[in-house]
Amino acid sequence: TRTTVGIVGGGPAGLLLSHLLSQQGIENVVLEKRDHETIANTHRAGILEQQAVTMLTETGVDGRVLTEGDEHSGINLRFNGESHLLDFPDLVDATVTLYAQNEVFVDLAAARKRDGGDVRYECEVVDVLDLKTDTPKVRFHDLSAGGDPNQLQELLCDILVGADGSRSFCRRAVGEAEGHRDFKIEYPFAWFGILTGAPKSFPELIYANSPHGFALISQRSETVQRMYFQCDPGENVDDWSDDRIWSELQKRVDGPDGFQLKTGPIFDKTVLGFRSFVREPMRHGNMFLAGDAAHTVPPTGAKGLNLAFADIKVLFEAIESYVSTGSKDLLDAYSDTALKRVWKAQNFSYWMTSMLHTRQDANPFETKRALGELETVTSSRYGQQYLAESYTGWPHA
Ligand code: DHB
Repeated sequence: TRTTVGIVGGGPAGLLLSHLLSQQGIENVVLEKRDHETIANTHRAGILEQQAVTMLTETGVDGRVLTEGDEHSGINLRFNGESHLLDFPDLVDATVTLYAQNEVFVDLAAARKRDGGDVRYECEVVDVLDLKTDTPKVRFHDLSAGGDPNQLQELLCDILVGADGSRSFCRRAVGEAEGHRDFKIEYPFAWFGILTGAPKSFPELIYANSPHGFALISQRSETVQRMYFQCDPGENVDDWSDDRIWSELQKRVDGPDGFQLKTGPIFDKTVLGFRSFVREPMRHGNMFLAGDAAHTVPPTGAKGLNLAFADIKVLFEAIESYVSTGSKDLLDAYSDTALKRVWKAQNFSYWMTSMLHTRQDANPFETKRALGELETVTSSRYGQQYLAESYTGWPHA
């Protein structure tokens, strides 16, 4: 098969790019390893910047994000047992929308199907080659019910996009000696994430720093809630009964105000490891990396999906310019343009993570210093605005 843009990865980033390209009549094919059901049921983050919402609604993906999504006008920072509300409209004239990432995928996948997009699920890429030529090539196996798993298939394209997530095959296919650089740090903790059938505990999200570690009280609907607590990366979900989880979460939000979580049955438990990672440049020849394939942020600032969408906007405009004018100027600028925002998001996510989490091995000075930082941010309008501006999202390039 031959196409203009080959896209490896059918998550939100790959599908949004495919959608935007098809709307401009630019041929593209998406290859995705997993099946639709698996992605639709993989629970991830849930906060969309206004700009990400606009990219879905104004390009005709679907309006479900507006009807099912929940507009949030702030978050709570909780420390020393006290909550501090950051009011985003007052601070920076912006809001965010709580809408689960797997629902974003469902909407994009439905829009691609509706519009006749060529999205091939259960296709496993085993090779990407000729990246420095004008015809990069992908080899893959079609493992879906209609495919022949033994037959190696080939997709030839003008431009190849690796939007295949944090363990990106595309990124790792580029050899050590190719002149790129990887930047990364690991964190000595992970998040234990749950879904529970319970009412909301509080109108806004709560990001809690406590002597027992971080907790995030998020939401999904009136009847389903999403919560996380900092845990050891080696934690096994089977060691955690509902009772044990609730008492751990409650400890982390306890305070003199008597705040109590509203509990319910827990029906999903996952340990989510995380790190900070950036590949520079975000391109190799005619292969361009986007989203988690190029960079991963820790989840504390809710930036992952939003950053991926920002990459896609820059990359889409660059591809469109190339296809319509033959000029590669914007494609050549893609990596530098996208990386400016990437490093801002890396800084914000690192900052939120280190300010809100605790380390078992920490010098107590560090623990007190972080509380000083939280006090600085919450007691000053400038401090609140700095956080609110980053959380709601810097203007797209
Ligand atoms: C959610 C996840 C995040 O990492 C975050 O910062 C806010 C919300 C969520 O899953 O709801």
